[in-house]
Amino acid sequence: MENHTKEELQDPTMQVSSLNCIDLANDDLHRSVVSLKQACLDCGFFYVINHGINEEFMDDVFDQSKKFFALPLEEKMKVLRNGKHRGYTPVLDEILDPENQVNGDHKEGYYIGIEVPKDDPDYDKPFYGPNPWPDSDVLPRWRETMEKYHQEALRVSKDIGRLLALALDLDANYFDTWEMLGKPIATMRLLHYEGVSDPSKGIYACGAHTDYGMMTLLATDGVMGLQICKDKNAKPQKWEYVPAIKGAYIVNLGDMLERWSNGFFKSTLHRVLGNGQERYSIPFFVEPNHECLVECLPTCKSESNVPKYPAIKCSTYLTQRYKETHAELSIYNQEI
Ligand code: OGA
Ligand code: NI
Repeated sequence: MENHTKEELQDPTMQVSSLNCIDLANDDLHRSVVSLKQACLDCGFFYVINHGINEEFMDDVFDQSKKFFALPLEEKMKVLRNGKHRGYTPVLDEILDPENQVNGDHKEGYYIGIEVPKDDPDYDKPFYGPNPWPDSDVLPRWRETMEKYHQEALRVSKDIGRLLALALDLDANYFDTWEMLGKPIATMRLLHYEGVSDPSKGIYACGAHTDYGMMTLLATDGVMGLQICKDKNAKPQKWEYVPAIKGAYIVNLGDMLERWSNGFFKSTLHRVLGNGQERYSIPFFVEPNHECLVECLPTCKSESNVPKYPAIKCSTYLTQRYKETHAELSIYNQEI
């Protein structure tokens, strides 16, 4: 728990969550699965350690991310997000909780997905396609670093996917097929928070939301900010901070896994509050193949527990959720 301000640590009202920690190098698979399952039933948030991504490389990814956000806005607007949701998202572009937010989120971002070349038969599908890249003369090594990180994070996601399958009483390789994680949408997003928040005025670093996909692997720079709300119906809602642990991912389940599991596994509401300090984070959103039909898993239904959600294609669901939360691209025309 580094980088916490004195005020935060002295604030008696600040609730801190304690989450289960899954060690991917632990030989005791049964124990890992039990601990993971408990976390998924309770709040869908847990730490993952010993995932095999080395800390120096992680620091390099954060350094490169900072370099990008430090560029003049004009330079960043050259790689404004395209229709495939890749590229730069300016401050206030996204609004995750319109009921409680007056403007959008006080953060800027950069979406990076798997590079799908023009001659690929899937090129025309939403979310597949090319990434815009900053000019390599301006940011040398940037693209290589991000592409390597994407590959590594995807490998870790597949490892976690095997434990999740076991926790759902499925075959360990259940999510490893082509329709699932074989050709996934999987999008990483560099984020830079300005540090601004004032909930009483409807100003949030990142509004309350649940993630859309299967799971999210979150790496942060250690600056406090992420909060979770285990019971969204409680009045008033109780928010708990999730502290960063150096070298660990904070992993949370998304809405697709909640749907797959018939509500058995939780996709929990979360948000980010700024504390005046700038903050950098990198969520890696794991969504399955574009064509994947997200429908109740065979182990999560019975005669007395019928499917609660209709089956929906991954890309249809994601398109809908992105539309609800992102500004129309046309608003940027005058600024480019
Ligand atoms: C998100 C998110 C948390 C963070 O981008 O979906 O919840 O700490 N981010 O940046
Ligand atoms: Ni989120």
